[in-house]
Amino acid sequence: MTDQTSLWLFGYGSLIWRPAIPYAERLPARATGYERRFYQGSTDHRGVPEAPGRVVTLVPSAAAVCGGVAYRVAPADVAAVLHTLDVREQGGYTRLELSVQVLGDAPREVSALTYVAAPDNPNWLGPAPVAAIARQIAGSRGPSGKNREYLVRLAAALRELAVDDPHVFELEREVAGHEDL
Ligand code: BEZ
Repeated sequence: MTDQTSLWLFGYGSLIWRPAIPYAERLPARATGYERRFYQGSTDHRGVPEAPGRVVTLVPSAAAVCGGVAYRVAPADVAAVLHTLDVREQGGYTRLELSVQVLGDAPREVSALTYVAAPDNPNWLGPAPVAAIARQIAGSRGPSGKNREYLVRLAAALRELAVDDPHVFELEREVAGHEDL
């Protein structure tokens, strides 16, 4: 997770397009053995307890590769960044240390930290038909804004990184067919 100077963080969701943390480096990265899925309920950011939205988590899947970004956090910022993320991700996410491939000019494997929501957390929603997930996203909003905005910004950020994620892009197309809130 750390070397003598830094902490690597793997972002696969909002951390890609809204880091809101200090970082020394941002590079495209991939995590092998995981796929990104809108399986986590959001009652504190993109929904409310009576009407949860849906946000992404990483789901283990042996053959999958999840594209995202890696942030290198300078040692002086590590404690504050971890505190910020622990608070931001408190709705069912826990820390996970994993190996990621950092791309760019000098591709390499690094040990990185991320946050994932596991099926045993209270906000877990799990799989559902695409149409049902899209309907839920189109109809949800929370303190951080519309759930639709989270999806659209994630999809735009993945396109910018040239990451193909059929689950995200299919949901984006489905949600576009729903009236805005
Ligand atoms: C995310 O990509 O959504 C994320 C990853 C690690 C910490 C916080 C958010």
